Amino acid sequence: MSNSSKTYSRLTIALHWIGVVLFLLLLTGGTLMTDFIPKADATTPYRGHVTFGLLTAVYLVVRIVARAMEKNRLSAPAGLAGWNLTLYNAIHVLLYVVPVAMIFTGVGMLLLSGLGLSPANVTPDAIGNVAPRGGHDIFSKIMILLVLLHVGGVLRYQFTKGDILGRMGMPWFKK
Ligand code: HEM
Repeated sequence: MSNSSKTYSRLTIALHWIGVVLFLLLLTGGTLMTDFIPKADATTPYRGHVTFGLLTAVYLVVRIVARAMEKNRLSAPAGLAGWNLTLYNAIHVLLYVVPVAMIFTGVGMLLLSGLGLSPANVTPDAIGNVAPRGGHDIFSKIMILLVLLHVGGVLRYQFTKGDILGRMGMPWFKK
């Protein structure tokens, strides 16, 4: 799989947008089920979250292997320098590291609660007060912040510096 000098490969673009859907589902679903849905109604959302969380573990392995095999990796978009470039690079690394941490803490929470990995065993009350539970919560807030910074950075670039959405498969916003 090979990026051209101007756009990512079709595989990278497909993986990126599949990831967007998975992470939006997990971040909004996870927040709703823990903070907004009454416990009595939360079992199905918890089971759905664990199912998509485990699918995301497989997705991340594919994404990381695909990235390692990528030829002609694209560099940062033109015109980024100083703190802007540092932030761009840091966010792109953290958008791999934090999801991996979410998987480890999610899986750890279930295993240390004695539930195994079957979503069918999960209910809100069955999750113990185990250490990875607090970690999962903290990493989820960091992940929300990263997504907001990432989307904010992309939009800022698109509207002030030049087309960047085009190289991720969205050529329609070019001026
Ligand atoms: C990148 C993947 C994941 C994301 C983005 C994600 C996101 C979230 C979010 C936002 C919450 C709510 C946190 C809170 O406000 O307390 C949450 C809770 C939870 N997640 Fe995940 N999650 C992911 C993966 C997983 C995996 C792989 C599992 C299990 C195999 C899992 C199991 C859980 C459970 C059981 C809760 C409820 C914790 C509680 O009741 O305090 N998650 N997740």
